[in-house]
Amino acid sequence: MADTIETLLKETRTFKPPADFKRRAAVRSAAIYRQASNGRLRFWASQARELEWMKRWHKVLDWKPPHAKWFVGGKLNASVNCLDRHVRTAKRNQVALLWEGEPGDRRAITYWELYREVNRFANVLKGLGVKKRDRVAIYLPMIPEAVVAMLACARIGAPHSVVFGGFSAESLKDRINDAQVRVLITADYGHRRGRRVELKQNADDAVAGCPSIEHVVVVQRDRVDTKEASAVAMKPGRDHWYHDLMREAKPSCKPAVMDAEDMLFILYTSGTTGKPKGIVHTTGGYLTQALATTRLVFDLRDDDVFWCTADVGWVTGHSYIVYGPLAAGVTCVMYEGTPDWPDKDRFWDIVERYGVTVFYTAPTAIRTFMKWGAEYPKQHDLSTLRLLGTVGEPINPEAWMWYHRHIGRRKCPIVDTWWQTETGGIMITPLPGVTTTKPGSATVPFPGIDATLLDDDGNEIKTGGGFLAITSPWPGMLRTIYGDDKRYRDTYWSKWPDIYFPGDGAKRDEDGYLWILGRVDDVLNVAGHRIGSMEVESALVDHPAVAEAAVVGKPHELKGQALSAFVILRSGYAFSDGLANELKQHVAKKIGAIARPDDIIFSADLPKTRSGKIMRRLLKDIASGRALGDVTTLADPNVVATLKKKYEGTE
Ligand code: WTA
Repeated sequence: MADTIETLLKETRTFKPPADFKRRAAVRSAAIYRQASNGRLRFWASQARELEWMKRWHKVLDWKPPHAKWFVGGKLNASVNCLDRHVRTAKRNQVALLWEGEPGDRRAITYWELYREVNRFANVLKGLGVKKRDRVAIYLPMIPEAVVAMLACARIGAPHSVVFGGFSAESLKDRINDAQVRVLITADYGHRRGRRVELKQNADDAVAGCPSIEHVVVVQRDRVDTKEASAVAMKPGRDHWYHDLMREAKPSCKPAVMDAEDMLFILYTSGTTGKPKGIVHTTGGYLTQALATTRLVFDLRDDDVFWCTADVGWVTGHSYIVYGPLAAGVTCVMYEGTPDWPDKDRFWDIVERYGVTVFYTAPTAIRTFMKWGAEYPKQHDLSTLRLLGTVGEPINPEAWMWYHRHIGRRKCPIVDTWWQTETGGIMITPLPGVTTTKPGSATVPFPGIDATLLDDDGNEIKTGGGFLAITSPWPGMLRTIYGDDKRYRDTYWSKWPDIYFPGDGAKRDEDGYLWILGRVDDVLNVAGHRIGSMEVESALVDHPAVAEAAVVGKPHELKGQALSAFVILRSGYAFSDGLANELKQHVAKKIGAIARPDDIIFSADLPKTRSGKIMRRLLKDIASGRALGDVTTLADPNVVATLKKKYEGTE
């Protein structure tokens, strides 16, 4: 990143909401903050009332730290909120999904059509024996069937676990086994950068190690019965073609009556150990926050065309492609492929063709667009855009300004939204019709969210740096880690009593604005994707050549962070470029391409403290070519010099 923290905090440019935006905005007055803080539970209850409930709750919040129950006694169904209530109105024939495949195939699916597909697939799942509370895994490309599958699970009360299509067979296997999944939904393949992603092959490799799987449903990505398309192996009795099952299924399925606190989904995310955490979200609170933030942060109206470029395999896709926007009843764009296929203007071509009005993407994408140059967006009419958003990592002011100038044509407010898989929905963000923004700052907590900065002892920091903390429970919060409540307590609630610790560091300026600085734990953020250093280390030591490994992040111009892996080889193995490449490949195969290290640094030893802890900060300094940190606590200071020399040799 070009901007350092120092320049970030000297940022003085401010941007008021443009007058014509403000005039039409859903929220025009800062009074909403006062109202929400004067009556936090009242505020959230009023947001919950925007949903359709089968039975009203009798208590807004039941808080027995660290366990919260929101909207106690309330009953609802998420798919009813995303579909049924719209198809009863004039919205029935409005387009829900404007989908585009990477090869250029297109589908426009109305709320009514989506409703029927979801009902059909809900019946398919029932026919396969899926019952309320049974877990279903979804390993699909970015195709409408992914949305259909998620909402069908929600309809029958079966929690879904969506696994990003870029994850490896082994990652899929671990996630299926952790949640004891009965049915897996996948596709023969997906399209990415002109090539096929062999999902069914990965699914087969995964399921070979998953005794709980009874059925695999396979979507045919290209709905043509060419030899090629059906060339994947189907295991009789276990594997079924999606289109065969759907042909037989009835288009109406009664929605399950779900308790507000019934599980809606599990989503795995990286932590500080080698094992990903199954983040558990429930129905009423999650949906309340997803809808409230969709309406108030993205300012969505009936005539908007909203495009969130995330994959449904991440929480951003869950909350802002599926549950939030569909509950709000807007038209969403969904795109399968990469921004540079067939050319670097693909996103802007899509914005122009569909008349996208609100666009939400990641800073890493914006930095890539910057590098490609403003001539790509310039080739297109982007005048329909009225609001822009970012998520996933800190945005450097330079990228913010480029986004503002070249995509927003200096007219669109930008909402930099901070949140996490664990928070379920946006937590810190401007409200686009109210908040004056500063490039690089996520600004202030959303109404009804108590976020602040604390020091190690839990003292509040008014201005300056500290740890981000959420001091009151919020509706979309994770309820636990699937099957591991102890880890839930230890990870999030042990730093300070009854206060949630997100793992991020931040600063607060004189105006009270928050500037998120990034993770303070061993979780890395590569191109907006969370990766645990321990996960990559486990993948490395799994290779026969590796005795020990330490993985750290180093600053990267486009990805924000990139991975550097320090590796000690077993005897009998020699350093070579060939082996370095093999190790990178090994990690990609074990976890997925997103975890592939940029550098492998072979070393004879790793710097450790006297108590044997790897000194990651020092390795970080070495990897990023910065001056060496304090080495006086090293058991053997020579180690550092050797390492440094080795690193320089590889540059
Ligand atoms: C980081 C993605 C700065 C942060 C929704 C957090 C951000 C992690 C921002 C969660 C932002 C997310 N500014 N940092 N606007 N948004 N982060 O679970 O470190 O994939 O803890 O959720 O991304 O990543 P996750």
